[in-house]
Amino acid sequence: MPNNEFGDFQTPLALAEQCLRVVGLPDDARVLEPTCGVGSFLHASAVLQPGTERVGLEIQPEYAEQASKWARVSVGNIFLSDLATDVEWQTNGPLRVVGNPPWVTSAELNRMDSKNLPPKENFKGAKGFDALLGGSNFDVCEYIILKCLGDLRKEALQLAMLCKTQVARNVIEHAAAAKLPIASASVYRIDAKRWFDAAVDACLFVVTADPSNTPDYTVNVFEDVFAPDAEPTSRFGVVDGRLVSDVDGYLAVREADGVSSLVWRSGLKHDASKVFELDATPAPTTAQGVVLDVESEYVFPLLKCTDIFRGKHRALRKWVLVPQKTFGADTSHLAMVAPKLWDYLSANAEALDGRKSSIYRNRPRFSVFGHGDYTYAPFKVAVSGLHKEAIFRLVAPIQDQPVVLDDTCYFLPFEDGTEAAVVAAQLNSAEARLFIESLVFWDSKRPITKKLLARIDLSKLPTDPDAILRDSQATAVEAGVEFDVERALALVQDRVAEQEALMLF
Ligand SMILES: C[S@@+](CC[C@H](N)C(=O)[O-])C[C@H]1O[C@@H](n2cnc3c(N)ncnc32)[C@H](O)[C@@H]1O
Repeated sequence: MPNNEFGDFQTPLALAEQCLRVVGLPDDARVLEPTCGVGSFLHASAVLQPGTERVGLEIQPEYAEQASKWARVSVGNIFLSDLATDVEWQTNGPLRVVGNPPWVTSAELNRMDSKNLPPKENFKGAKGFDALLGGSNFDVCEYIILKCLGDLRKEALQLAMLCKTQVARNVIEHAAAAKLPIASASVYRIDAKRWFDAAVDACLFVVTADPSNTPDYTVNVFEDVFAPDAEPTSRFGVVDGRLVSDVDGYLAVREADGVSSLVWRSGLKHDASKVFELDATPAPTTAQGVVLDVESEYVFPLLKCTDIFRGKHRALRKWVLVPQKTFGADTSHLAMVAPKLWDYLSANAEALDGRKSSIYRNRPRFSVFGHGDYTYAPFKVAVSGLHKEAIFRLVAPIQDQPVVLDDTCYFLPFEDGTEAAVVAAQLNSAEARLFIESLVFWDSKRPITKKLLARIDLSKLPTDPDAILRDSQATAVEAGVEFDVERALALVQDRVAEQEALMLF
């Protein structure tokens, strides 16, 4: 995929034709392609239905020139156009908005110093859009699809655009927040590697918008754009104002969707693994094979997401240096109180001072990020953010030291090992699994997020007390944690009482 500011890769005609076959193009349709490039979709429309009225818009004049073989094409910038008023139609058939908007993110464009971005004032006060632009990074494709639906919100139309599957999800979430008149939607997966040499999950996103219908923000998922008659394999969308990956599965466990009373934490981030992370041989050893002699209160056992996922949570493979107790705490006094650590960090100052992330800017020297009192809690229930299955592990101290987790993990901190075992058992229960499955998008880069975990309200999750008691004991044994049966029983009974009380309301 070319990495340029126009997200410029043209759709092969065969794919454009198939996309239009899937949605069915009426012979009197008005076809609009808002970032038409050389006009693959306009060409395909002309082939399939020559009687259609076709209009294109494209920022690069030489492309617009080529596309004008198939349609009336203007050279223009979608970000500065109003699709409701700037397009002049000569017919009044059903409206189809089609194409393949640029697959670039605002962060990529900023890095390229590109100005090909929507002006910020476009978003002021526009519900749904402000949330989109509020984030530090957004997908331009997502913005363009939302802009098409927003500009043309007063008309009935069908939109059919190629995009990353993640973009389709975000659009549905924002469309629901902005109350855009979406009547139905589907995604048909495409093989992006084959068509665009892009290693992403992508799809044809089809949205029917109709202001006269009750909105529906759920999306049927079809596995292959070339097999559109197969049954949909799942349905994601916005239910009760929140995005879920499996609408039907979610409806069965929706009562557990709330606010976790336990605060989920991310692990430690430091952006300098060669300096902060040390091999456990078992003594802390640098990448150069030198055993490091520094003040022990700054050295902790380290576990990463793969250790958690693979059940290696009792193994000592790495140590990590944590030079501050909390984020932002002063470090200059280390020269006095921990001179050996200070000397080591100073010897590596070039790598540490050169860390690019803005979180270290104007912070005490040698800062790390994402830590606080919770980092030093003796027991943790941890999960990998990156793997394709949510397995919660009870993590106990290693060599009498609290374990530090890295930033590929999420965790809950505990002082009490039995309580941690009970919570781990609940999070690994069949009921929790069902709930997570209904929310998670496994094809995301980081499927398990803090936002998702924070939605699991354990007090409302159906609980089988015998199973939890049995599994928490097994979890404690596996983690090498002393288990207090009486205490576990009391905790499980409290949980059941909470749920019974809820059922009375
Ligand atoms: C992914 S290509 C797709 C082209 C065509 N739709 C197709 O499917 O073959 C994206 C196109 O958007 C055009 N583009 C990028 N930014 C634009 C903007 N601000 N306004 C209009 N067109 C733009 C690019 O020049 C490029 O031709």
